[in-house]
Amino acid sequence: MRRARIIGTGMAIPECVVDNDLLARCLTTSDEWITQRTGIKERRVSPDTYRMLLRLADAPDKEGFIRELYDQGLDGKIDSTLMVADLALEASRQALKNAGLAPEDLDLIVDATTFGDYAYPGTAAVLAAKLGLTTTPTIAMNQGCAGSVYALATADQFIRSGMYSRALVVGAELLSPFFEFSDRGRDMCVLFADGAGAAVLEAVEGADPPGLISHHLHTDGSVLDKLYGEMFGTSTFPPASKKKIDDDRVRPRMNGRVVFVQAVRRFKEVIVECLKANGLKIDDIDLFLFHQANMRIIEAIADQLSIPLEKSFNNIAKYGNTSAASVPICLHEAVEAGRLRRGGLVMMAAFGTGFSWGATLMRW
Ligand code: UT7
Repeated sequence: MRRARIIGTGMAIPECVVDNDLLARCLTTSDEWITQRTGIKERRVSPDTYRMLLRLADAPDKEGFIRELYDQGLDGKIDSTLMVADLALEASRQALKNAGLAPEDLDLIVDATTFGDYAYPGTAAVLAAKLGLTTTPTIAMNQGCAGSVYALATADQFIRSGMYSRALVVGAELLSPFFEFSDRGRDMCVLFADGAGAAVLEAVEGADPPGLISHHLHTDGSVLDKLYGEMFGTSTFPPASKKKIDDDRVRPRMNGRVVFVQAVRRFKEVIVECLKANGLKIDDIDLFLFHQANMRIIEAIADQLSIPLEKSFNNIAKYGNTSAASVPICLHEAVEAGRLRRGGLVMMAAFGTGFSWGATLMRW
């Protein structure tokens, strides 16, 4: 039997820390509200977002300050000195180092990113160039917060089939420049943040070897209006015209309550599906790595499926929701913290825009 095994992990986060109190100086929110409703205490953002937030916090006319930002950005260009591919690169280098491999050893790169540095090419190609690779194939995926499990499943198929033997899987996000740090954007801007996680996969052969065992993926595009962004899409060309800004069509949109309910429902369904497909029970799983969307979502899943909370590894308090990066960051931190035991079963699960969701089972 041939499987793909994770042999190295890595992560990267920007240095700038934004705590809830700084956000409360920028818009109408509070540490108490954010902590109680989401479990988030602080998050990491790009230096550009951080500098902007410090200026916004001190601005007497906050609405005017935001309007000015849009005026400056009318050409649709979002100035960022940090690229999402830079975060992807740092996480990838660390994962490669931990795997004892060089970029040239890779047969494939799969990257999941919601907002890339360019409309095209996708982040996977930008990352490959930064790694110094000029012929290695890349696949760029955009499944929002579910991207990490989709990317793992995709890389795994190439390894299982025998086409490739080593793959780099990355989830990288630089989301903070796109959110509006205002009262009308407060449902989203307090949740999402920047970061990247990476894992190196290698083929392993034997009778029931360790590695990725099964993937369970789903999408329901009929409800996309509950979590979506129009900027950079053909629906808003040119990306940030004055009219589109006046029509309020250039910021990410979410119906938080619907997303919350759907997330809990779909997480539960796909976890049960994954257990059933493998003839397992909750007790058989050593560790759950959930997409870090909201601590209340994780607590609801754990409660309804009788998963002891200590069986899940959570870092949302420190990093917020880093979308496609959150599961690989959890994986890396859980490995570093010694939370994965050799031979133990780990289930990863994620849910995001689309809606797309999925679960992956692996033996460590
Ligand atoms: O990866 C998937 C991505 N998305 C998610 O995971 C999001 C899932 N949904 C959620 O996490 C939650 O729905 C939120 C955290 C976004 C909101 O929490 P909630 O408990 O569902 O609050 P709500 O939307 O029902 O809003 C309650 C109140 C509203 O005020 P009114 O209408 O009761 O006066 C909101 O305007 O809370 C207000 N509110 C805020 N107040 C302070 C919304 N955002 C904030 C905020 N600070 N940041």
